[in-house]
Amino acid sequence: MSMNFKNRHVVRINDFSKDEILYILDEAEKMLPIAKGKKKSNLMEGKILSTLFFEPSTRTRLSFECAMIRLGGKVVGFSEAKTSSVSKGETLADTMRMASAYSDIIVLRHPSEGAARLASQFSSKPVINGGDGAGQHPTQTLLDLFTIRKEKGRLNNLEVTILGDLKYGRTTHSLAYALAQFNIKLNLVAPKQLFMPEEVILHLTEMGADVTQTTELKEAIATSDVLYCTRIQKERFADETEYLEVKDIYQVDREVLKHGKEDLIVLHPLPRRNEILPEVDATPHAKYFVQAFNGVPVRMALIKLLVLG
Ligand code: NCD
Repeated sequence: MSMNFKNRHVVRINDFSKDEILYILDEAEKMLPIAKGKKKSNLMEGKILSTLFFEPSTRTRLSFECAMIRLGGKVVGFSEAKTSSVSKGETLADTMRMASAYSDIIVLRHPSEGAARLASQFSSKPVINGGDGAGQHPTQTLLDLFTIRKEKGRLNNLEVTILGDLKYGRTTHSLAYALAQFNIKLNLVAPKQLFMPEEVILHLTEMGADVTQTTELKEAIATSDVLYCTRIQKERFADETEYLEVKDIYQVDREVLKHGKEDLIVLHPLPRRNEILPEVDATPHAKYFVQAFNGVPVRMALIKLLVLG
């Protein structure tokens, strides 16, 4: 199959077809020994990745950096806008012009929805959206899909429950769009205030997704193969009292999991607060740490495809 990834921007997961997603996952599979440090690579020798992070990050930034370094490339960037010229009033457009002149590929995380799209218009090199406000987080979705396929052996004929902050959670938007491309029954579970935005539901329905939305977790997980938990996105609430009303609304513990299938897997993009209790970590359901590791091979595959084709 001929695929054309070279020099593309990755702004939304919808930018990829189903075949392209599967191709990236297959490439990621091949990267595993390098990601684990068992095999050396010089694929990215002489290449530079810029990480421009205007919002906090642990996994996304570190796994992108490790991915580039494991491939023999180098990394520059900032993890706080205040250490860059943005604090002097520089525009995103100018920041992108510079970063794309200096380096070969750029990862951007920004608090404004739409920032990655805008940034890509001022960049001569591929821009990867590492999270744009409450918009999307496409590379998180790729590693989520990689993990589901690895743990369940398939991406079809599955039932997936996405739980938590569906309104502001960018990981849930990207994941729902991606799952809609596969034969998957999707249950969305959230407090009413944090239901999935209407426009996302509309788009999912147009795509032919089998999707239902409810506030009842136990019913939704009874027949699920995957439970994808998310953090309530405190930083996106305009009003703190609204956050306080929902902050502890769902807590997945061993008792909750008794309502699920024996082979239910629990995922989470992390960081978690108390939506998954630590007592779940030692159960065979917990796959969120291996999921976080999978960010490395998946991002290696993406870097390779965007820079080299
Ligand atoms: C998520 C994010 O930044 O959207 N984190 C991540 O990249 N793994 C989830 C979150 O912050 O809740």
